[in-house]
Amino acid sequence: MEKGKMLYEGKAKKVYTTDQEGIYWVEYKDDATAFNGEKKGTIGDKGIVNNRLSALLFEVLEKTGIPTHFIELLNDREMLVRKLEMIPLEVVVRNIAAGSLAKRLGVAEGLNLSRPVVELYYKDDALGDPFVNESHSLAMGWAEQSDLKEIQELGLKINGELQKILDQAGIILVDFKLEFGKAEGKVYLGDEISPDTCRFWDKETQEKLDKDRFRRDLGKVEEAYAEVYRRVKEVLND
Ligand code: C5P
Repeated sequence: MEKGKMLYEGKAKKVYTTDQEGIYWVEYKDDATAFNGEKKGTIGDKGIVNNRLSALLFEVLEKTGIPTHFIELLNDREMLVRKLEMIPLEVVVRNIAAGSLAKRLGVAEGLNLSRPVVELYYKDDALGDPFVNESHSLAMGWAEQSDLKEIQELGLKINGELQKILDQAGIILVDFKLEFGKAEGKVYLGDEISPDTCRFWDKETQEKLDKDRFRRDLGKVEEAYAEVYRRVKEVLND
């Protein structure tokens, strides 16, 4: 497989074409941004952790029947993925109140939600990814009714599968963000699953092991990313 021209450079990844129709080549960067790009920095070896951890998790999800865009891990920072027509929504699933939910509802971070909460955000940097609902998504034509139902159901199923693995790794899955896309009429999970896109807390100490360490200047950011990868790899390679 040949790496072609760069199609797109995002905040955390670069996407290239390949010589094969329908397959993209993704490169994970160490660049980190927060607060809609207002805070910028780098997290050493983040690209390696996010690429390798996403590959591990996509593989497990595939085994449980969840279609993902993942095709093949190439090296430390690169993977091949299926080309998708992206649905411009972020699906956030929450088990514990934190971040924007804790702020919006005026509840303490760490409050246990009695059932998982699924939220939709419209992907638009200029608008700061506004919180939207199904009705907005249908009226604006961002997704069809059947796809909206499917991505929210997949979000909940993925939550259950990830919780099982992370629990064995001594990690609480607080919340996470997913992105979906379509190829030949079928919905696939896209993007990544990493400490950039999830909140992970240590089960024993409640210590944050995710991008909140960068967002809130808590220090030991690289160590937290490496620790999550080490623990998940240990569980999955057993
Ligand atoms: O900020 P908020 O509490 O809404 O984030 C919920 C979850 O979604 C967090 O795990 C966060 O890392 C993730 N997220 C993301 N990309 C965004 C917004 C949120 O990965 N643009």
